[in-house]
Amino acid sequence: MESAQRYFEKEWQRTVYCGNVSGKNGEETLAVVNGWVRRRRDLGGLIFIELWDHTGAVQIVFNPELTPDVHERAKELRSECVVAVKGIIRVRPEGTANPSMKTGEWEIVACDFVRLAPAAPLPFEIGDTTDKVDENLRLHYRYLDLRREKMQRNLRLRHTIAMYTRNFLSDNGFLEIETPMLTLSTPEGARDYLVPSRVNPGSFYALPQSPQIFKQILMISGFDRYFQIVKCFRDEDLRADRQPEFTQIDIEMSYLVEEDIFALIERYLQGLFKETIGVDIKTPFRRMSYWEAMDRFGSDKPDLRIPFEIVDLGRVFEESSFEPFREVVERGGYVRGIPLPGGAALSRKNLTDIEERAKKLGARGLSPFQIKDGELKGPLVKYLGEAGQSLLRKSASIEDGDALFVIAAADRREISEILGALRLELAREHGLVAKGAWEFLWVVDFPLFERNEEEGRWSAVHHPFTSPCSEDIPLMDSAPGEVRSRAYDCVLNGNELGGGSIRIHDPLIQEKIFSCLSFTKEAARERFGFLLDALSSGTPPHGGIALGMDRLAMLLTGATSIRDVMAFPKTQKAQCLMSGAPSAVPVEQLEELCIRTVPVTPSEPRNPKEETPSPK
Ligand code: AMO
Repeated sequence: MESAQRYFEKEWQRTVYCGNVSGKNGEETLAVVNGWVRRRRDLGGLIFIELWDHTGAVQIVFNPELTPDVHERAKELRSECVVAVKGIIRVRPEGTANPSMKTGEWEIVACDFVRLAPAAPLPFEIGDTTDKVDENLRLHYRYLDLRREKMQRNLRLRHTIAMYTRNFLSDNGFLEIETPMLTLSTPEGARDYLVPSRVNPGSFYALPQSPQIFKQILMISGFDRYFQIVKCFRDEDLRADRQPEFTQIDIEMSYLVEEDIFALIERYLQGLFKETIGVDIKTPFRRMSYWEAMDRFGSDKPDLRIPFEIVDLGRVFEESSFEPFREVVERGGYVRGIPLPGGAALSRKNLTDIEERAKKLGARGLSPFQIKDGELKGPLVKYLGEAGQSLLRKSASIEDGDALFVIAAADRREISEILGALRLELAREHGLVAKGAWEFLWVVDFPLFERNEEEGRWSAVHHPFTSPCSEDIPLMDSAPGEVRSRAYDCVLNGNELGGGSIRIHDPLIQEKIFSCLSFTKEAARERFGFLLDALSSGTPPHGGIALGMDRLAMLLTGATSIRDVMAFPKTQKAQCLMSGAPSAVPVEQLEELCIRTVPVTPSEPRNPKEETPSPK
């Protein structure tokens, strides 16, 4: 086989990037360009190709009258082969300029070229901008997918985010310090990825779910302000905004209060949005307590672009003759609804569909109301009476043409979550999410603990190092569910962009928290003894935050999944379709690690490989 590399000599090295080709004052200039052949057209004897590199594309013309043998060879050029072209840059003939191309006024008339590398037939069109190519196919041939303009743009913007972040934080006195990847488990609510230690048979490292404990220790060590753009690993159910390995912009600082973090992050995001997409965002961001967010929007990451919110109808149904709802209210439960502007136009079938969806979300039933021609309609209207009807309209702020969907439940969080999910679905379906809006907010006053009914114990809502509000400390024994934490989440357009907290810096409180989380003294000592010792060695008050860099990049690029802003993401089943990871390993390698695996019967593969559809 003849190696293509032999051909690449200095004389064929580009003198200009494809996307930067332009002429000077009508002069014709000699240039060399390197790149991939994209789109070839044969027109009236002339051959046109678009030559592409990461800066853009330029048109190359092969003219049979000027260079007949070069033109003859150009007939062999196939999509995505790599070439170097020497030619003359000139203004395109009148009427043939292409205003949609950056270099559209110019073209290069080829004098000669070399093909530096051939390309196999393509599984999909690289120039396809329709987003219709199957995602598994894209992930299998990721090297080609990344050549697409959109992916190039996304990863370049991600680079700008990383550069801006480093410069901003460094300018504000933060020091980038790396923390270990082979470490002990850091609880963040997911399962760990484990790595066996060959030299310590039977022992495992955990890949960090976050650098949480290390960044706190760096404060104890006196670094004062730390940051890291860092990979984190979590074995959890994957979604459009979750990957098993992802990147955090991780920050910690000493001697601070919440306001310092809020001001820092607002200033950072304001600059970043301006720098990357030219958008001015308003600061300070809104603040909302966890329970206000849950009651009004049914989510701890409310999407404030949607112009309607959950309404409480307890008073309306307390006085109604509809017994099931009245009883719920009398027993301390909740009757709440979600209005839908314009929902009066929904058909009976639409209403039944919405009820079915509410049931899937956990509602026992759903009662619709509609106002048509000024009249309130719905199966429960007859139980309300005149006063009840007008109170319902007023409480729900619904008018002629609107609908309202009402459910009842005993539990405050349960009713909120059902209506919150319905709010999102209905708003998306009916095009009621404001376009071009950037709605930031801080959610504060989270509960410190949540009840894990399955395990019959309390667990940490954020992580166990989050400080309780000092006035709630006395409630830790009597009413753990009511203790508020000093945690905060930064939310953007319904996405949790980041989360953080003021930490516990008193080892006694830290021990108390471990005991509330059902760790015995010995277990807490065994697992977190080094942290407790460190906390006892002179710990400044400290706190911080971590922003999800993939989510930030997703929102800034307008992508619908974080997979589109990561070079090599995994599928829903945590597999890399390109490399085939994860994979079985040779028995000898396992033996060396003192590991034996349990065989899986072929009929029930634990984690079957995802199919790559065949190229069309
Ligand atoms: P938290 O667990 O809230 O906090 O994570 C911070 C941010 O990281 C992003 N994120 C993810 N992004 C993609 N895929 C995932 N699987 C994933 N999980 C989380 C989110 C989230 O808001 N140590 C604390 C931070 C602190 O207290 O300072 C922590 O990790 O955008």
